[in-house]
Amino acid sequence: MKTVVISEYGNEDVLKLEEVEKPSPREDDILIKIFNIGVNPVEWKVRNGMGEVFGMKLPIFLGSEISGMVEEVGADVKNFKVGEEIFGNVNMMRGGGYAEYVLAKESEIADKPKNIDFVQAAAIPVGALTSWKAIFTTGNLQSGQKVLIHGAAGGVGSMGVQLAKAKGAYVYATGSAENEEFIKDLGADEFINYKKTKFEEVAKDVDVVLDTVGGDTQTRSFQVLKKGGFLVSLVAPPSPELAEQFGVKAEMIQSGPNGELLEEIAKIVEAGKVKAHIEKVFPLSEIKEAHKLSESGRARGKIVLQP
Ligand SMILES: NC(=O)c1ccc[n+]([C@@H]2O[C@H](COP(=O)([O-])OP(=O)(O)OC[C@H]3O[C@@H](n4cnc5c(N)ncnc54)[C@H](OP(=O)(O)O)[C@@H]3O)[C@@H](O)[C@H]2O)c1
Repeated sequence: MKTVVISEYGNEDVLKLEEVEKPSPREDDILIKIFNIGVNPVEWKVRNGMGEVFGMKLPIFLGSEISGMVEEVGADVKNFKVGEEIFGNVNMMRGGGYAEYVLAKESEIADKPKNIDFVQAAAIPVGALTSWKAIFTTGNLQSGQKVLIHGAAGGVGSMGVQLAKAKGAYVYATGSAENEEFIKDLGADEFINYKKTKFEEVAKDVDVVLDTVGGDTQTRSFQVLKKGGFLVSLVAPPSPELAEQFGVKAEMIQSGPNGELLEEIAKIVEAGKVKAHIEKVFPLSEIKEAHKLSESGRARGKIVLQP
């Protein structure tokens, strides 16, 4: 089967498309025939050298966000059958999602929502699971409360806006002018063009901030929170001193596979409350172009691969 491997760290030229043997499932493995793959910034970060920070060892098989069909199951697999259509987020450390087949565990996948195609399904798991963990599991956002979502046009932010609206929250969302209509269509109550307007002059008494940007954006986000509010970052550990000074909680989180939560998310998708926007679908052979686009930081929604 075709797969993408890196044997050294570097720019997109280190991405090599190779022929390898199709994996065979052990007792608790599910062999997935992949139809589509979501591209995530962590993959070019690993490729650039962050693999070491995550404890990964070369050669690295990138890719973890997939949609496809169950091809084969190990003897201990109970909840998935050959032929079932699934989507999921396999463990990034195991990776191997930039391929025609990948091994998954039962705890990493869920039935694909019936109302969407495989391209859409590959574009949902990481953004939805990550924004959910940040906003609801960590931030404990409740219906009627206010959330500020940075990077609302991105893979995570665009899911966060829709999920927060589905839960009945009030959503401030930052983005550039080109994404204003897109972000409003996602359901954001107030769009803030971060290049023109200081978000802290608009967003007030916020219960939860989802920080997908870091740096100065993160530092300035403390002042929009109400006392007891929560700043949840995906990109950099927030300052405990600032958290104390503003009387708020602040934490950086790591997301990961969660098949059970993905099942819940699938129901919200089937209810028509969440959909993915696809920036572009690339054939797997154009993985270098896909990484370049993701690394530009300007993609709207998700970049998807087709093996
Ligand atoms: N900790 C974790 O477990 C975890 C999980 C998932 C993702 N992440 C990280 O979270 C970050 C976002 O991920 P993603 O998949 O959403 O990335 P992405 O899809 O590549 O995000 C691109 C979007 O970011 C927006 N953007 C860039 N700079 C901005 C700024 N200063 N303010 C507001 N929006 C800005 C851009 O919109 P405009 O063109 O409108 O600016 C663009 O649409 C990445 O660094 C990723 O590695 C971490």
